[in-house]
Amino acid sequence: MISIKNNFFKLDTEKTTYLFSATESGLLVHHYYGKRVPFHDYNNIMLKQEGGMGTAIEYEGNRFEYVDNMELEFSSFGIGDYRELPLSIQNQIHGYSNNFKYRNYQIIDDNDSFMRSYNQNQTLKVDLYDSTLNIGIELYYRIFEKANVITRYVKFYNNSNLTFNIERLFSMQLDLNDANYVMMTFDGAWAKERHLNEKLLNCGIYINDSKSGASSNKHNPLVIIRKPNTDEINGVCYGFNLVYSGNHKTTIEATPNQKLRILQGINDYAFNFEIKSGEEFITPEAVMSYSDEGLNNLSHNFHYFVNHHIVRGEFKNKVRPILINSWEATYFNFTEKKLLDLAKSAKEVGIELFVLDDGWFGLRNDDTSSLGDWDVNKKKLPNGLNGHANKINKLGLDFGLWVEPEMINEESELYKRHPDWAVKINGRMPGIGRNQLVLDLSNLDVRTYLIEKMTEVFSSCNLQYVKWDYNRNITDMFGSTLKNQGEFLHRYILGFYEVINELNKRFPHILFEGCASGGNRFDLGMLCFFPQIWTSDNTDYLERIYIQSGTSYGYPPSCISNHVSAVPNHQTLRNTPLASRFNLASFGVLGYELNLSELNSEELNEVIDQISFYKKYRSTLQYGKFYRSENSIFSSNRTYFYAISETKEQAILGFFQALIHPALNEDIIYVDGLENDLYVFRNKMQKLNLKMFGGLINYVSPIKLKVNGKLHNLVCKFYHPKGENERYLIYGDALKYAGIRLTQQFMGTGFSDKVRVLGDFGSRIYIIKKYNEKYKLNHKKIS
Ligand code: DGJ
Repeated sequence: MISIKNNFFKLDTEKTTYLFSATESGLLVHHYYGKRVPFHDYNNIMLKQEGGMGTAIEYEGNRFEYVDNMELEFSSFGIGDYRELPLSIQNQIHGYSNNFKYRNYQIIDDNDSFMRSYNQNQTLKVDLYDSTLNIGIELYYRIFEKANVITRYVKFYNNSNLTFNIERLFSMQLDLNDANYVMMTFDGAWAKERHLNEKLLNCGIYINDSKSGASSNKHNPLVIIRKPNTDEINGVCYGFNLVYSGNHKTTIEATPNQKLRILQGINDYAFNFEIKSGEEFITPEAVMSYSDEGLNNLSHNFHYFVNHHIVRGEFKNKVRPILINSWEATYFNFTEKKLLDLAKSAKEVGIELFVLDDGWFGLRNDDTSSLGDWDVNKKKLPNGLNGHANKINKLGLDFGLWVEPEMINEESELYKRHPDWAVKINGRMPGIGRNQLVLDLSNLDVRTYLIEKMTEVFSSCNLQYVKWDYNRNITDMFGSTLKNQGEFLHRYILGFYEVINELNKRFPHILFEGCASGGNRFDLGMLCFFPQIWTSDNTDYLERIYIQSGTSYGYPPSCISNHVSAVPNHQTLRNTPLASRFNLASFGVLGYELNLSELNSEELNEVIDQISFYKKYRSTLQYGKFYRSENSIFSSNRTYFYAISETKEQAILGFFQALIHPALNEDIIYVDGLENDLYVFRNKMQKLNLKMFGGLINYVSPIKLKVNGKLHNLVCKFYHPKGENERYLIYGDALKYAGIRLTQQFMGTGFSDKVRVLGDFGSRIYIIKKYNEKYKLNHKKIS
């Protein structure tokens, strides 16, 4: 809700209030962003500046109006505010100085852009104007009441006769009157995406950014600040994210007098936009949220926002299919028969969608050639994509396809025809990533070609799903059709959005999954076009606990795509239990990526059981309210997370262990967010693998077994004792405050069904259901 009175602007969401006002001198002053509160008047929250301030500058000579000490909504350059600024704009005559003053406001209908969130409750537009230079800034505030999100973006417009150069224009500025915060960022690398890093802010300037051309696996655009004592369920925190897939930057400046300025937008690195007379520039949208109920609640705000205001089209709030992906099953080395065998076994275990990954086109038998030649390889698929898709459909599976349209191999027909379409500097050897170059999407011809070529591919068969990959970062930044190279990186992203937006429109029934060597472009911009994203190329159970935990702070399970893969894991060579790989992968969109024919019959039965379990609880696992436990994997060897169904009738909890250690503290499970009704809490039965016990088996075996001998192997193959069976009847509040003390973990002695055998990389799933009469009948023991 937007309320405006006497130049005070109050923006309310269900649980938050944002307040600013325009001063008589024309400055926009920020007063409050936090818990939703009623104000009698605003005196309590006004900055009191009635005394001198040394070297500080008085704005336009106004007595005591020290701009450098004020919280502002959007600062100008050269008015005495010496903190980091949201803009750097200049022309040859007047230089960098500007002075944008409040002019007016409007409440507008603002649903026009394809690269922004949608379905907001209201939008406030505030106009700031520099009447000397005849240039303006429009500040947009979009209110998402239920999500408890306010988004911001900025338009610069040039009414003068001069040309201006924008060297920086951020999407938002937020000044807080307190700098006592911990900054949380989500950083990493290929196969190590979005690991949580925290630093206590001290006087200084902190930057979280990307310079690779993509939002990057190095530093995700999501940034959170929390009070030092805030945890998952208590305390104050703010989150910021950007609806953008290119270079981003968040700057946080903690001033010597303990104020905080947060700026977020397109990175100003290698950025320079020319805005001629009559032209304008619109920034991407920054997303802000606040919670005084801890980090889980902040994540819920973001999750709701993504599910309701970012993801669009037919797949919005729809359960996603369970897929098998051919990549780690076959890599480039496949025949149609091999694929059909894989599809057949996938169908048998209950999988719904078959995805043909890299290698189906041109002469693509390894990663050195053919990107750009999007015509089927008839040697591998003699009946073309259509023939192949029909066979997959006949098996009862949907068909999906991998593409990497933004890329080109020098070894390709397309490159022979259009060497100038690749991003490079003439006369210089370009940087090469995975043997490929990037196509110049700032060039209209390239975009037109891509839209038409992909349209041809996508309509050549009965296609239900597309995985859109992007496997290198940009170097040698240069757009051959651009006059101003400072525009290249942003125009690349705009070009990419134009292409994928058009393809979304032409193929509304196709589920698009984003991918960039895994999670190199996991951001809100991508999610506007790709309802789900391949989270990481790393499918190792242990690594994924970190990756999925970190990702969950800003992104809901419905867009986090996870695959169960083979062991030893292809990235880490680690062996982990099949059950753990599934248990973790099930917290998101489930897929399998392994050669099912290499599994033995027990493993296949286990997969059948996994898939039927996932189908039963899929909507809770993909769309339930997702909570992280207090003990995070970033500081502990165990963690758990859980998803609660919308009705609070049921929840699924996953408990994940890294390495087993002696003298472990007890595992106590607390579940927040349920009703205070009676629930049944029980573990999903997990069979034990006797092999884990090695020679210890001889303490219980009536005959001596030689470890790894034939008999030992046979016993282990056929005898799988059931693990522990834990059941509790418990009220929601008891589960929240008293918790459940799980049975002891096995540690060397005393094996029985009263201990949990987890060992290294062990995990469990727990099912929590409201206790009712029906349950009583089915489970007599409990009653
Ligand atoms: C990188 C992706 O992340 C993988 O899943 C796979 O699709 C390969 N590219 C194929 O080249």
